[in-house]
Amino acid sequence: MTPNNPTGTVYPRKYLEDIGRTAIDHDLPILSDEAYEALVFDGAEHVSPMSIPSMRDNAIGLFSFSKTFAMTGWRLGYLCGPEEFIKRAGTIHNLVLAHVSSHIQIAGLRALQGWDRFSAPIVRELDERRRTLVDELNTLDGMSCKLPQGTFYVFPDFRDASPGLTSQELADRFLQAGVGSSPGTFFGSGGDGYQRLSYSKVGIPQIVEGVKRMKRVIAQHASAGPLEN
Ligand SMILES: Cc1ncc(COP(=O)(O)O)c(C=O)c1O
Repeated sequence: MTPNNPTGTVYPRKYLEDIGRTAIDHDLPILSDEAYEALVFDGAEHVSPMSIPSMRDNAIGLFSFSKTFAMTGWRLGYLCGPEEFIKRAGTIHNLVLAHVSSHIQIAGLRALQGWDRFSAPIVRELDERRRTLVDELNTLDGMSCKLPQGTFYVFPDFRDASPGLTSQELADRFLQAGVGSSPGTFFGSGGDGYQRLSYSKVGIPQIVEGVKRMKRVIAQHASAGPLEN
């Protein structure tokens, strides 16, 4: 999955080539989720495994209109891959869903035709939010959050800022303070201590206010005092 949810990592070409070599050696297909392909920052390059010649025959790419064009809920996306695979996937899709509503397909076509016009302002706005959120998070004691190069998530490590609390406990406390986050453990046991924060639907003032509330939660935990809303 590149760019990656939850970390925001954009995988470099070399890393994908290594994955590709392993897949080819073991005759495995590569299913590549590229839903966030357009949401990259700081000049980072999104590399699709399908664009790597050695992987073209066994890579299948998954794309969505939800992130690039903020069309979440329209349930529109597409698959790219070897012709035979796409034919079979098309047959299954036909039998299960028939097709996406016509007006949504037309909107998707218009979105693709105006790719830069529609997605560039979204990326610019997200970039500003990303920088604000990371700067604000880094004012928390014990926090060192890096700027992710893609998606609209940050995945900070809260272990030093809130020692003794699991991801779920900290997420519950954030929620009581009016801040939604996904505990890192949603994404696997290695995520314990982390929170995924999304800046897709919040403006700059809400980001600043949200981090202020997180700071309050952490300060209350440090002093072991009662929680306030
Ligand atoms: C990596 C990734 N792929 C796919 C999706 C699903 O997107 P859609 O809205 O097209 O179902 C998401 C949604 O959060 C996602 O994070």
